[in-house]
Amino acid sequence: MNITILPYRPGTAEPLVYTPAEVRAQVALLRTPDRSRYPELAGYTRHELYEDCSGGGGLYLAARMARTLRLQPGDIVLDLGCGKGAASIFLARHFGVRVIGVDLWTAAADLDQKFTARGYRDHITPLHLDVTAELPFAENYFDAVFSMNSFSFYGDNAAFIRRLMRYVKPGGQLCIGGQVLTAEFTAEQLQHPPLVYAFRLPPPADGVDIFADDFSKHHTPDWWRDLFASSGVLRVDYCEMLEDADVLYEEMVRDEHEHNTDPFDVAASLAQMAWKRDHAPRMSLFVLTAARNSCA
Ligand SMILES: C[S@@+](CC[C@H](N)C(=O)[O-])C[C@H]1O[C@@H](n2cnc3c(N)ncnc32)[C@H](O)[C@@H]1O
Repeated sequence: MNITILPYRPGTAEPLVYTPAEVRAQVALLRTPDRSRYPELAGYTRHELYEDCSGGGGLYLAARMARTLRLQPGDIVLDLGCGKGAASIFLARHFGVRVIGVDLWTAAADLDQKFTARGYRDHITPLHLDVTAELPFAENYFDAVFSMNSFSFYGDNAAFIRRLMRYVKPGGQLCIGGQVLTAEFTAEQLQHPPLVYAFRLPPPADGVDIFADDFSKHHTPDWWRDLFASSGVLRVDYCEMLEDADVLYEEMVRDEHEHNTDPFDVAASLAQMAWKRDHAPRMSLFVLTAARNSCA
């Protein structure tokens, strides 16, 4: 079946149509990450690195984020916007930390079932909550906050960061990783977003304005670094785009295609890849890690 990518606002762009043959041909050209650069992921199958991750990077990104953290066995880590819990399990499994995984769109019962089935019931506590509301934790409680492909949904303001960091020990870390723009959207693009960032999702999500709710909330690494610094409670230790971001993204698209998890997303991702060859801003991946000031 052909996949048609329609603009969210009718009449603002020409639809793009992908035939199954075109999708297959383009997927065949996608590159594969260099696994030797990720020794901590030895033993995972290719699919396991993306299964249960929502957003580019999968566990490759989790590994890159974790490299910037000073995790010790027994540390308590808040996985903010943990989604389906893949990174929570990764952290518990590789670092012996205790994880509190909080998420809005995933039911705690589903996460509990998964963590129990995988043998991590005693290591990961799932909570269903909106992180923009008052959080039910003691102040200075966490050794680190880890937020993968999630922070852009709610964390774009200094007031939120200051509130969040109250729950982190002085010297404790906040690490965010995920999609990032290579340049800020221009004023013109914010008014008239490119189709590849402003398409209509298939039903039942066809009422979602994906540009307003998702893509427009992305920024450049410098924008995020400045925001963290301006919070007054953080010292930025690390802020880098991933040099292999494009390949990690391609691997995710191949995985979605091979497992038929989201044919529409495959087509939309292929459209984005074609567009970004000669347009900006492009989406990349980054990691930003900061420590709570001792006197904050
Ligand atoms: C793209 S998914 C990423 C999930 C997971 N971290 C991963 O990498 O697979 C974004 C997640 O952010 C969560 N999220 C968005 N807004 C939130 C909020 N206000 N409070 C808690 N979680 C939120 C959603 O529930 C969703 O699971």
